[in-house]
Amino acid sequence: MKKIAIIGTGRVGLPFGLFLESLGFSVTGIDKDIALLKILRDRIMPFEEPGCQDLLTHSRIQFTDDISIIKNVDYIFITVGTPLMPHIETDLSNVEAVIKSLIPHMQKGQSIFLRSTVAPRTTEYVKSFLEEHSSFRIGKNIALAFCPERLAEHKALAELKTLPQIIGCEDELSYEKAIEIFAPFNVKMFKTTYISAELVKLFNNSARYIEFAVANQFAIYANEFDQNIYDILRLANEDYPRGFIYRPGLTAGTCLRKDFGMINELSPGSDLLLASWKINEFMPYHLIELAARHAEIKGAKVAVLGYTFKRDSDDTRDSLVPKLIRYIERKVPHEIVLCEPNLKTQVIERYANRNISEALQGTDIVFVAVNHKEFSNSNIIWKALKPEALVIDIWNCLGKNQVVLRKERV
Ligand SMILES: NC(=O)c1ccc[n+]([C@@H]2O[C@H](COP(=O)([O-])OP(=O)(O)OC[C@H]3O[C@@H](n4cnc5c(N)ncnc54)[C@H](O)[C@@H]3O)[C@@H](O)[C@H]2O)c1
Repeated sequence: MKKIAIIGTGRVGLPFGLFLESLGFSVTGIDKDIALLKILRDRIMPFEEPGCQDLLTHSRIQFTDDISIIKNVDYIFITVGTPLMPHIETDLSNVEAVIKSLIPHMQKGQSIFLRSTVAPRTTEYVKSFLEEHSSFRIGKNIALAFCPERLAEHKALAELKTLPQIIGCEDELSYEKAIEIFAPFNVKMFKTTYISAELVKLFNNSARYIEFAVANQFAIYANEFDQNIYDILRLANEDYPRGFIYRPGLTAGTCLRKDFGMINELSPGSDLLLASWKINEFMPYHLIELAARHAEIKGAKVAVLGYTFKRDSDDTRDSLVPKLIRYIERKVPHEIVLCEPNLKTQVIERYANRNISEALQGTDIVFVAVNHKEFSNSNIIWKALKPEALVIDIWNCLGKNQVVLRKERV
């Protein structure tokens, strides 16, 4: 049985490892997070990912922080986090730490697959580093490929079975080794260079980020002209065959929000990605300005519905909602309450996490910050609100085709 080590058993590495095990590979999970390892050994999923709890419950995966076990495996996948620094610069420290810790334990014939999202030229850097600090030679006695993960959270198991796998490699041995792993996935496989593979991943995410920025820019324009963006979108999109304009929203998340920087760190000028970042990052402030045009935030009770970075998710990483809350705070409201049904905690940051009805009791201003399914039942929301309450619904979650609504006028 072929043996695989997954280094970084988070949102990408854990579902990937469970899926590989379901295909018959022998998998070991390595992570530096001791608390996470304990949860995994107790066979508890640390986050929501459909189908994974069942696989984990019946899994034989060993979870460890001992990197030396890699000497007993055939393939090593690196799935550690690659955030941006506070600068426009990838924080490669996790990848670098892993590569350094691997070298003393590596064996001839092994394969290393980088699966974390990285900036162009990172795989080339990993190759140079490995060859400089060891006697191994990529393509001769060790394999190296960049095989990006392109799935969306909460669709991991479904998309691992369907998304084509990009294989960035520059020698035959590495390609053959990658095929040994990915052929059983029964998906299309595309061979390309390191940099093309790195760019495919970044272009996929950046294209979405730009599309949402276009939608957000148009919403800002419409609101500045005091027009209804949802009327305009319906008129622009209906039966129009050339192009589709997306809905506006708080566009963020651990991938979309950072990946623009991985291209931008290598280019000196302004570009569309940077402009998109600016627009998407401006949206929380835009929503505050919009609310302030219609109501006094100072002294008001404000409810924020949703806290995670995307719909029906429990992932808060890189959400724009904390930023929205900080801007609300600067307007000195009397009270802020949150409602985040996907988080079990009673308190988020320092605010109470209430159910919808409690959060809306006596509320003056409501921001629908995330388009969770719980918020699309507008009957519950209208019933709980007082007549003069103002609602800012950038996602059109309530289905009223208006960003700015007053209960008494709906
Ligand atoms: N989350 C997604 O939907 C998604 C989708 C596609 C690609 N990606 C990319 O995949 C990578 C991982 O993302 P994620 O969401 O799984 O992150 P994550 O934070 O959920 O998981 C990363 C794990 O790596 C571990 N780790 C970090 N440094 C380590 C080290 N030196 N040794 C051992 N373990 C270490 C962390 O403790 C953590 O558990 C990132 O590059 C991300 O951009 C994420």
